[in-house]
Amino acid sequence: SLSEKDKNIVQTFWAKVAGREEDIGCDAVSRPFATKTYFSHWKDLSPGSDPVRKHGATVMAAVTDAVSKIDDLIGALLSLSELHAFTLRVDPANFKVLSHNLLVVLSTTFPNDFTPEVHVAIDKFLTAVALALSEKYR
Ligand code: HEM
Repeated sequence: SLSEKDKNIVQTFWAKVAGREEDIGCDAVSRPFATKTYFSHWKDLSPGSDPVRKHGATVMAAVTDAVSKIDDLIGALLSLSELHAFTLRVDPANFKVLSHNLLVVLSTTFPNDFTPEVHVAIDKFLTAVALALSEKYR
């Protein structure tokens, strides 16, 4: 789980993400991941399309919000977990895929800041986010 040190590393790194959520989120959700299954109601599913870009920004805003509530991720993400479990019915395996996509995009967007230490802390954080989002599936 996340140590106090990990939490500090995540929060410090996330200060660099601030203001770039839309680009990063767009890139992360543009990377193919079962998109057709859940987003078939969108007119344009191509990477970087308007709805994909908008959704990337939405997801990233939620992740940024989670960074600010890092001490209570389960509580912070409970209503989103409910939404994905009962309304959207997203297979929770996809949370891991998106977490991985985000790691890839963050590492390539911030090659100098993405040290091995940051990598481990962000990985742990995104795993905790995925777990919190899976809370209502049980
Ligand atoms: C919608 C967050 C992962 C599928 C949303 C919304 C947020 C969000 C904030 C908008 C909720 C609202 O309108 O009230 C997240 C976060 C994720 C995540 C933080 C992981 C870090 C995923 C994954 C999938 C998914 C992996 C499916 C592969 C959807 C769908 C919608 C949605 C289908 C509705 C989109 C629409 O039609 O507008 N998500 N999500 N989410 N999410 Fe996620």
